[in-house]
Amino acid sequence: MPERSYQPVRVWDLPTRLFHWVLALCIVASVVTAKIGGGAMDWHFRCGYVVLTLLAFRVVWGLVGGRWSRFASFIYAPATVLRYLRGQVKPGEHLDVGHNPLGSFSVFGLLAILALQVATGLVADDEIAYSGPLNRLVETATAEVATSWHKTWGQWIILGLVALHIAAIVYYLRRKRVNLVRPMVLGDKRLPPGTPASADGTPQRVLAVLIVALCAVGAYWVAVQGG
Ligand code: HEM
Repeated sequence: MPERSYQPVRVWDLPTRLFHWVLALCIVASVVTAKIGGGAMDWHFRCGYVVLTLLAFRVVWGLVGGRWSRFASFIYAPATVLRYLRGQVKPGEHLDVGHNPLGSFSVFGLLAILALQVATGLVADDEIAYSGPLNRLVETATAEVATSWHKTWGQWIILGLVALHIAAIVYYLRRKRVNLVRPMVLGDKRLPPGTPASADGTPQRVLAVLIVALCAVGAYWVAVQGG
């Protein structure tokens, strides 16, 4: 089908786009505040609670969100990944509409490592001035391992995956002439007519606000456990 017959199709609903850009902002702010240290650690904690809220939201949104934000749309069987890599995509498979089989690895990898970073932060203890709100719930030895992971491997893997993530996006732009950033900002991709769209109307957005509010209450509850 000629590309000029392609039409704008909503792929990334507004809640997913806001999730993405607020998450990116919070990760940058978490790194900066951790490097500054001292009083900036209060903001490091706040960023962590926002990331916790965002991740909890994304898990729920992966079940009830727009079609292309649902996990079911980007969990691929190994055979599909292999076929995608060999360029043997079947008609109507839509592997390049949302997260493609390679992108999905990066998405799940980032979400999992960020969840682990939040979890280890919640029980961490710097043995000077700051400890996570759930620190008193774990043994000292567990807190030590968690703190060490949080400050070393956890941080390094996140920075590495984010660098890889951005490098992949630049590769798509430069080599494949595909701009993935624009749809993550504005929501639409130009796709063949008949490509199913993500629902992104007022009911979905109201639902997203309710889910975020519930997740924020949960994160607040976690935050106040530290007293
Ligand atoms: C700390 C920084 C960042 C983090 C943690 C991050 C994380 C993520 C995550 C988790 C997703 C999946 C979105 C979802 O389905 O919920 C994603 C997708 C995406 N991100 Fe980022 N991101 C970061 C920075 C950036 C930057 C700077 C750009 C632009 C240059 C960018 C562009 C994109 C695009 C275009 C997608 C969609 C990829 C696709 O079409 O499969 N991200 N990012």
